[in-house]
Amino acid sequence: MTLCEYKPGLENIPAAQSSISYVEGKEGTLEYRGIPIEELASKSNFIETAYLLIWGELPRKEELEAFEHEIRFHRRIKYRIRDMMKCFPETGHPMDALQTSAAALGLFYSRRALDNPQYIREAVVRLLAKIPTMVAAFKLMRRGHDPVQPRDDLPYSANFLYMLNEREPDPLAAQIFDVCLTLHAEHTINASTFSAMVTASTLTDPYAVIASAVGTLAGPLHGGANEEVLAMLEEIGSVENVRPYLEERLQRKEKIMGFGHRVYKVKDPRAKILQQLAEQLFEQSGGDKYYEIAVELEQAVEEKLGQRGIYANVDFYSGLVYRKLGIPTDLFTPVFAIARVAGWLAHWKEQLAVNRIFRPTQEYTGTHNASYIPIEER
Ligand code: SDX
Repeated sequence: MTLCEYKPGLENIPAAQSSISYVEGKEGTLEYRGIPIEELASKSNFIETAYLLIWGELPRKEELEAFEHEIRFHRRIKYRIRDMMKCFPETGHPMDALQTSAAALGLFYSRRALDNPQYIREAVVRLLAKIPTMVAAFKLMRRGHDPVQPRDDLPYSANFLYMLNEREPDPLAAQIFDVCLTLHAEHTINASTFSAMVTASTLTDPYAVIASAVGTLAGPLHGGANEEVLAMLEEIGSVENVRPYLEERLQRKEKIMGFGHRVYKVKDPRAKILQQLAEQLFEQSGGDKYYEIAVELEQAVEEKLGQRGIYANVDFYSGLVYRKLGIPTDLFTPVFAIARVAGWLAHWKEQLAVNRIFRPTQEYTGTHNASYIPIEER
């Protein structure tokens, strides 16, 4: 006897009780621990936001300094992980490289001391600190270059851009990138967070939890959409081609990447802020062809699909910002992962506090008492 009917994709089925973030789809509201995302994007930074999400409140000055200091000094990765990454094929997707190297972290740190708060804190610090290093390292290694060591004298976002491009970013670029991380940090029970929670509920180690979530985020219907959006804008090629392109894609019943959302039935509040960041960046350099195509496409999609509640989501403008910051297209989703590690870790901790292993049921649609037919008779 099932308590509730089967809903494809568990649509509108609560899988947890959580106080980490709140999304309201009709108004387009997003809050982290009750604070509106607009406030955090304009007044906070990613490390402070990660602390808020994971430990549940804004840190006092000395708490933030200690947290930030620990993360700075855990950015390096073991040489054996670097050597392992050197064996990855240069044509491999960076999300596969990240999932593999994130799981490899578990080989180096004791497993399953989940009842030890110090172990929990160390795992939080190590994952927040090392994931950016691994993303940047693979970008250089797949071109046959040695990765650069993280710099302890740079703040979190500036250090990532430094490791990625081998030069210090300009302050505006680092600041805009940091806001992008804050915007992508958490979003209630999305697919990759749900993966993290299910994996966490078996009491495995946190590195396996994050590797599971990275694999889920990689899909084009989830975090992988930002990479697809850029490819789509390049395929459209001009503002004049936007509407014919859209018409054709809709005729073929193909989804438009960067649009639609299971919860938001208005424009994603994060897309609004990312669009402002894109405008800020492009003001500096006199506009951008792909941004103009994106604005035209958003307008066209709204005309066609707006009445069905399909609007731009977080992935629509993020790629334009990342491209302007010198991030290669196939690293857009790993950048999403760098940010979402904060949310995944927050849900990991919350799951452990009230853990019960996930084991849903099913509505069986198969047969019973079937016979085994010998192969020669099939
Ligand atoms: C993220 O869950 C989260 O919070 C995720 C995320 C986060 O922060 O973690 O916000 C990040 O993943 C954002 C979404 C990125 N994905 C994309 O941009 C890919 C394109 N979007 C779609 O695949 C889709 O909108 C989803 C997956 C995002 C949501 O899908 P749903 O809620 O399961 O909706 P659906 O696929 O059942 O679509 C309902 C209808 C369908 O039409 P019908 O078959 O009923 O006629 O709307 C149509 C869909 O075809 N539709 C679209 C569309 N999205 C939905 N049609 C064209 N283009 C689209 N983008």
